[in-house]
Amino acid sequence: MSFQTLTSEGPLRLVVVGAGGMGRAWMHTIEADPDTELVGIADLYPAATESAAADLGRDIATGTDLETGTDAVELAKRTGADAIVNATIPEAHHPVTIAALKAGLPVLGEKPVAATVAEGIALAAAAELTGHLFMVSQSRRYNRGLFQAKRQLESLGRIGIVAVDFFKAPRFGGFRDEMDSPLLLDMAIHQFDMARFLLDADPVAVVCEEYNPPWSWYAGNAAATAAFEMEGGARFTFNGSWCSPGFETSWNGAWRVSAEHGTTVWDGDGDPQADPESKAVAEDPGDGIAGSLREFTAALRTGREPMGRVHANLLSLAMVEAAIRSAAEGRRVSMDEILDGSYDTALAATTDADILTVLHSWPSVRDGLNRGSRSD
Ligand SMILES: NC(=O)c1ccc[n+]([C@@H]2O[C@H](COP(=O)([O-])OP(=O)(O)OC[C@H]3O[C@@H](n4cnc5c(N)ncnc54)[C@H](O)[C@@H]3O)[C@@H](O)[C@H]2O)c1
Repeated sequence: MSFQTLTSEGPLRLVVVGAGGMGRAWMHTIEADPDTELVGIADLYPAATESAAADLGRDIATGTDLETGTDAVELAKRTGADAIVNATIPEAHHPVTIAALKAGLPVLGEKPVAATVAEGIALAAAAELTGHLFMVSQSRRYNRGLFQAKRQLESLGRIGIVAVDFFKAPRFGGFRDEMDSPLLLDMAIHQFDMARFLLDADPVAVVCEEYNPPWSWYAGNAAATAAFEMEGGARFTFNGSWCSPGFETSWNGAWRVSAEHGTTVWDGDGDPQADPESKAVAEDPGDGIAGSLREFTAALRTGREPMGRVHANLLSLAMVEAAIRSAAEGRRVSMDEILDGSYDTALAATTDADILTVLHSWPSVRDGLNRGSRSD
């Protein structure tokens, strides 16, 4: 399924909505990229937009080329923006992105795609309805080491096991210390998504156990072990904890991929190593959100399918919901169960008649999602 490309000349004009920690990182990244221009900042709270603008060295009170507002679509119309970067909280991803798409604006959204898979399905339908691109920035995919590991694996035959250890001990304070399933909900989606990228395969089912070590400073379960069956039969295992001081892994995790003719290991920071050694060199995807910004800009200019288009990205959030359900109910959970249930929820919750029509036109949720791309 194609999407509308842009014909305007010059840098891509962007409004960032959500002036929190991540929104500010986006603003700096947009300003540093010669192919993009920050034209506006939106947030529910004017104090947040003002301090974000001040962070960039712009004083809104004295008048600058940077506009602000509380509504992203109104601001985008006022500034003639080409697209929106949605860096709001997950609960706001669905309403803010739907409003932008329906107003004719392509969207680059922060992960997760939405607060739930059901909302993500409605967003896929909204993208199909409007013909505008909605891409999710899954920033840890944009990593030279990860691309290099994938390249090395090309010469090692069939992949059987992808294993990642993730052991950190961050003292966040705030909502993460209080929420249920902080590791699975707030972190594991990165590794789940990276495994899909490495394997070029989507998940089939998962068995997961969640628990909280006795010394944990989190109220919810801060540790989890999950084993996914992936398409083609490979297994992906995630073994992680957010309360494990000492010999901490990188934020990407420590990876070991076992294939028919050898193994690749990667500490998540430096260069991966293959045994037998590989001389293959991968392209440089750019670093983190700067890489996904580049991907989004190129897609809008050329019509090239980007990584992270909503239809494809949704499976990474489905892995999280499946793992949490598996842990809660003590059984193996299939992706089809999550997708079918979420499709029914989306049908029941969607009030927009046009989006409902698109959802009803899908022969199945899988067919609807396959109208976008697969695991990339
Ligand atoms: N890629 C990564 O590594 C990474 C890291 C951190 C956060 N994130 C993601 O970035 C997003 C934002 O996280 P954060 O830590 O910056 O959150 P935050 O709470 O610091 O900031 C969110 C901002 O959005 C604003 N907002 C909420 N609803 C809005 C709406 N309807 N319209 C306009 N503004 C609204 C809030 O007022 C707040 O200023 C989340 O989806 C989070 O998961 C990604």
